[in-house]
Amino acid sequence: MSKPFFSRAKSWRLCSKQAVYATMRSAGSGSRSAVSATNPPSASRTTRSPWPMGPLIILTGRIANRESNTPALSATQPSAQIRGSSDLIPPILSQASGVVLDIGPGTGTQMPLLRSPAIRAIYGAEPCLGLHSELRARAASEGLADKYHILPCGVEACDLIPTLQTQGLLDHDTDMSPAHWSTGNPGDGVFDTIICVRVLCSVPNMQRAIRDLYTLLRPGGKLLVVEHVVNPWRTPKGSVVARGLQAMYGVLGWSWYMGNCCLNRDTADALKMAAEMDGGWEFVELERWFETTPMPYVSGVLVKRPR
Ligand SMILES: C[S@@+](CC[C@H](N)C(=O)[O-])C[C@H]1O[C@@H](n2cnc3c(N)ncnc32)[C@H](O)[C@@H]1O
Repeated sequence: MSKPFFSRAKSWRLCSKQAVYATMRSAGSGSRSAVSATNPPSASRTTRSPWPMGPLIILTGRIANRESNTPALSATQPSAQIRGSSDLIPPILSQASGVVLDIGPGTGTQMPLLRSPAIRAIYGAEPCLGLHSELRARAASEGLADKYHILPCGVEACDLIPTLQTQGLLDHDTDMSPAHWSTGNPGDGVFDTIICVRVLCSVPNMQRAIRDLYTLLRPGGKLLVVEHVVNPWRTPKGSVVARGLQAMYGVLGWSWYMGNCCLNRDTADALKMAAEMDGGWEFVELERWFETTPMPYVSGVLVKRPR
């Protein structure tokens, strides 16, 4: 497979930061975590990944901001079981099915959560080539070697689309011009489920990337999201102090040290807007968590309208 569109310098910096993440994750993977009723203990244990900001997170309980126009797709965790951001992931990923695209899987920390028989194939789009061997080894150890396909590309359409074409998932005559691609409906989509876990904070043009992912979803397909976001400090549930800390970390070089990770993204808004040109999402269930901390999260499911 050809080398992805990714500049060497950028790739090196990204990978060096991701190596830090990987090390921190494996260092903490043995720590105890809450076991969800819907997930096997091993899965929950494996996904317990202390985020670099862990010590700074003061868990103050769930502040839900659910938006939906149909009944919930599946149960979310009772708030008592949510002790950290890693606890948000199992109930969301348990909803994956069909042909799945996992954006930025890293070393495959979440792979134990993707063993459902409802999943036919998984494509992990990981631009950091240095993580591929670990990703491949994880797929083998989880018994997913046949199902898991590593895509050496990022989420950007100019990178992802040619890779999908090479894989035979998209026609080679797909019109890749931004005008066409960003209509959200250049065809019937490719994936039944797209997963974004702790990745949209570091993609260069988040709004554009999410719109492109929307396009790649099949009608009725699900976008599963667990992402840290900007503190909603202007709302009663947010925190001016936490927002100030986010700004301070930014000034101190957070993004540089953390592989382009940005603490100030309004990801929930971008997710909702992505379907605007197509009449909106069929279903949105996004919940906000840890809103008084410098690492608030949004997690949930967005479903594309069936045709
Ligand atoms: C914080 S890690 C999260 C890994 C994994 N999703 C998890 O939850 O354990 C961020 C991942 O996003 C990847 N990444 C960074 N920029 C990306 C991009 N533009 N497109 C796709 N993945 C990207 C990184 O290489 C890294 O593996």
